This record gives sequence, structure tokens and C-alpha cells, in this order.
Amino acid sequence: MEQAIINFAERGSGVPLVLVHGFPLNGRMWDAVSPALSAKYRVLVPDLPGFGRSRPAVPFTIDSLADDLFARLVALDAIPCVLAGLSMGGYISLSFAVRHAAALSGLMLIDTRAEADTPQGRIARDEMIQLVRTGGSVAIAERMLPKLLAPETPARQPDVATALRSIMESCSPQAIEHGLIAMRDRADRTGDLASITTPTLIIVGDADAITPPSTAQAMGARIPRSVVRLIPGAGHMSPMEQPAEASHVMLEWLQAVG
Ligand code: MLT
Repeated sequence: MEQAIINFAERGSGVPLVLVHGFPLNGRMWDAVSPALSAKYRVLVPDLPGFGRSRPAVPFTIDSLADDLFARLVALDAIPCVLAGLSMGGYISLSFAVRHAAALSGLMLIDTRAEADTPQGRIARDEMIQLVRTGGSVAIAERMLPKLLAPETPARQPDVATALRSIMESCSPQAIEHGLIAMRDRADRTGDLASITTPTLIIVGDADAITPPSTAQAMGARIPRSVVRLIPGAGHMSPMEQPAEASHVMLEWLQAVG
């Protein structure tokens, strides 16, 4: 597979900290946490191929993205790094941790899971592919928004719901389709968790309906040097919904594993 274009936003200096976005989003989903993180770290925020400023949309797999990310980070002199990924970004980070273990000084798995899609989940991906072909990114945003946020977030923080919808609606339908195929066909990483030796922080919103706290705890039980932290009042998008608490938890852990 040809190496896809991955653009990075970069701020701060020090140890490289890479923040990989979820689906169907772009690097803007980290905007509320990156000021606090970049005060102490060299924060690199990629837009995955076809998303944000990384055009054109080209087909990818979760493993090809992990390899492309590694190649770009080498070129940016950002290895070793701490790699953080939310949801689909977590799938990529787990693949990276298996394929490029020596490149990591730490791993953060945020609102994500190690398991592959279930047969039912794969059917749902195919339905979403049909939906994006007929209704575009607006239909996808409409379908996904209610599942991504804690039940109280839209009323309590309407700006967060608005920002999230706008990021989703800005995604190219082609990139959304590539993302759905890559997630549908991804490997199950559960069997690899015990071999991850880098320090690992697992973060999950206490109201995450897509990758719930029980999933995070199960992942933590298998990764030897891991800790699990719950973010109160957050759903699947904890760095957007509770940025102060999420960045505090991240910085505290980064300092501890230093
Ligand atoms: C994400 O947030 O990246 C997606 O919800 C992940 C998924 O659909 O599996």
C-alpha cells in the first residue's frame, strides 16, 4: 500500500507526545487539551489520511496507518514518543505498539478497545458504508452524535456537541468509507496485550457507551504496566467533554512515568 499523506500540527517542545484522533474526526478533536499538554511536551497532532488537512483520501488499513505514522514520526525526529490514541486512534496505537514497540516510551489508550468487530459489528459497518454513500458526512454525524457524548453533555456543554458535529460534517465521505472498511477488517489485538511492555495509561469516560469502562478495565488487566483512569461526566469523547480532567490525568501519569 502506498504511503499516505499525514499532516501534523505541532506545538511545544520536549518529549514527543502524539495524539491520534478517532473516527470520523480530525486533529481538531484535541484542541481543548493540547494547550495544557504542549506547555510541557512536544505535541504532534496528525490528521489521518483523507481527514482534516491530509488529502487526498486513499484506502488504508489500521496496520498500514500505524506503519505510515511510524515513518512520518521518524522523518520528524519524533521517535521515541508517547503515543496516545482515542477509539480508532487507539486501534492504530495498539497496532503501532505491536509493530514498532521500540519506538514507544509510553502509550495512552483513550476510550478504545482491543477486540476486533463482532460479526454484528461488521454488518453495522457495511450499513454505515451505505449510509455515507447515500447521505454523506451529514448523515453519519447525525447517526453517531448521540452515541459519542455522555447523556448530559449536549445540554450542559452545547458548544462541545456543536464542535463535534462540525468536525464530523467536515470529513470527506470517501475518507469515512475508508475508515469504516479499515475498522471493520482490523485485527483482534487482545492476544497482544500481554506483550506490551511500555508504560500504558488507559482512560475512559464513565458514561462511554461505545467502549465502556468494563472494556477498559479488561484491557488494563492484560497489559502488564498499565493503569486505568475513569473520567467522570464524559462519554466516548473524554478529551473534548472533560478536557481539564483528561489533561490533568494525562500530565500526572506522564510525570510519574517520566
Ligand atoms: C471512534 O470513535 O473512533 C469510533 O467510534 C470507533 C469505532 O466505531 O469502532
